[in-house]
Amino acid sequence: MGILSWVTLSLILGMRCFTSSDASFSSDGLPGTGKKFLDLAKRKELADWMVGIRRKIHENPELGYEEFETSKLIRAELDKMGIAYKHPVGVTGVVGFIGTIKPPFVALRADMDALPMQEMVEWEYKSKVAGKMHACGHDAHVAMLLGAAKILQQHRSEIQGTIVLVFQPAEEGGGGAKKMLDEGALENVEAIFGIHVAPHITVGEVASRSGPLLAGSGFFEAVISGRGGHAAIPQHTIDPVVAASSVVISLQHLISREADPLDSQVVTVAKFQAGGAFNVIPDSVTIGGTFRAFSGNSLIQLKERIKEVIVRQAAVQRCNATVDFLTDEKPLFPPTVNNPDLHPFFQRAADDVLGTGKVHDMQPLMGSEDFSFYQDAVPGYFFFLGMVPESSQGNLETVHSQYFQVNEDVLPYGAALHASLATRFILEHQKGKSDSLTGGRHRDEL
Ligand SMILES: *[C@@H]1O[C@H](CO)[C@@H](O)[C@H](O)[C@H]1NC(C)=O
Ligand SMILES: [Zn+2]
Ligand SMILES: [Zn+2]
Repeated sequence: MGILSWVTLSLILGMRCFTSSDASFSSDGLPGTGKKFLDLAKRKELADWMVGIRRKIHENPELGYEEFETSKLIRAELDKMGIAYKHPVGVTGVVGFIGTIKPPFVALRADMDALPMQEMVEWEYKSKVAGKMHACGHDAHVAMLLGAAKILQQHRSEIQGTIVLVFQPAEEGGGGAKKMLDEGALENVEAIFGIHVAPHITVGEVASRSGPLLAGSGFFEAVISGRGGHAAIPQHTIDPVVAASSVVISLQHLISREADPLDSQVVTVAKFQAGGAFNVIPDSVTIGGTFRAFSGNSLIQLKERIKEVIVRQAAVQRCNATVDFLTDEKPLFPPTVNNPDLHPFFQRAADDVLGTGKVHDMQPLMGSEDFSFYQDAVPGYFFFLGMVPESSQGNLETVHSQYFQVNEDVLPYGAALHASLATRFILEHQKGKSDSLTGGRHRDEL
C-alpha cells in the first residue's frame, strides 16, 4: 500500500465519530471473550443478516475473477458499516481495515468465487445462473467474514491494532490469493487466518493440524497428435487414442513406482477427449488432469516427470505430444502448511469460542487451497468448520457436489471465530506474548 492510500485511510477513520460499544473484550482479560463473540453472532438479527447475505450470493454465483456483483455487495455492506477498504485488489478483490491502521496487522480471509457446475438442489434460493453454483461454500465464507466485520466494527475503539479483511477472487484454481498478495493485500500483516466449511464435521466444532494440512497442486493438459483416418484401416493411420491410453497407464507408475510411499502424492487424468464417431480414428486426443504432493520438491518432480512420460510414451506409438501446465490461469499451488506456533494459539482461541472438546486434530487431505500462497508470505493458519447438524446421522454432501448444501447454522460460528482470532492475536501481541507467534515461520518454497 502506498503512502497516499494510508493517508486517505487515516483521514477516513480519523473523521469518524467513535461510539461506545455494548460489550468490552479488553478490560477483563481474554477468557470468555470468544463465547461473548459467539453470543453476539448468534443474536437473531445478526444471524439472519448473514443468512440473507449468503443467500443473495448463492443465487448469483460468479466464477473466478468475475465476482463483480459479489464484490459490489461486499463493498456496499462495508460502506454501510463505515469500514474503509481498498478496491480493486486482484481484479474483484476487496481489502477492508478495522482498527487503528497501526501495527499489529492481522488478516482474515474469505474467498468469493463459485464453480462451473449446475446446482441440483431444489430450494428457494437455488442458483439463478445455469451452469454456475456455489458448491464449495464460498458464499458462506463471505457472509461469515462480513458478520465478523460487523462485530469487530462495533468494537473498533477497543482494537489496538488493525484487522485486515481479505475478500479474494478465484480460489478454485485461479490462484486469486497469489494475485492479492502480488498487489500488496498482506502488506504489514503479521498473521492470517482462513476458514473452510466442512460437510463431515459436526456444527460448532473445528478441525485442523499443525504443519502440512492440504497438498500442493498443479494441472496439466496434453495434446497427443497422430494421423486420423478410417477406423477399419488402422494401418493407414497413427492412432492417438491408443497412444493416449498408454500415456494414462504410464502416468500411474509415477505414484506406484517412483514416489516414496510415505510421501503422499496423486496423479489423476480426469479429462480424455477423443473423436466423436464410431468409425473414425481422430487426428488427436486431449487429456488433462491434476497432480498433488505435500512438498514443493515432490510437486516439481511430478511436474517434470508428467511431461517426460507423456511425450516419450506418445512417441512409442509414433505420436507427438505437447504438454501445457496452464500456469498462467492456474498457478501451481504450494502445500497448505499451518504455522506450528499458530497451532496452540488457534486451539486456545477456538476453545474459548466453542468450549472444550470441540477443537479436533485431523489427518492431512490431498485437496488444495490457494490460502497456501498467503502462508508462504506470512505465518498463516487454515482450519475446517463443521456444518453437520447434531441430529444428523451421516455427513452432508461433499463440497463440489451438485447437491452440496450449506447448513446456515454455521455462520455465527465462523463470524465469532474470525472475530476472536483477530482480536486475540492483537491482544496477545500487546501483552508481549506474540514473540513466539511469529517466530517459527514455516516455509516450503516451490
Ligand atoms: C511429429 O513431429 C514431427 C516433427 O515436427 C513431424 O515430422 C511428424 O510428422 C509428426 N508426427 C505426427 C504423427 O504428427
Ligand atoms: Zn472448492
Ligand atoms: Zn473452497
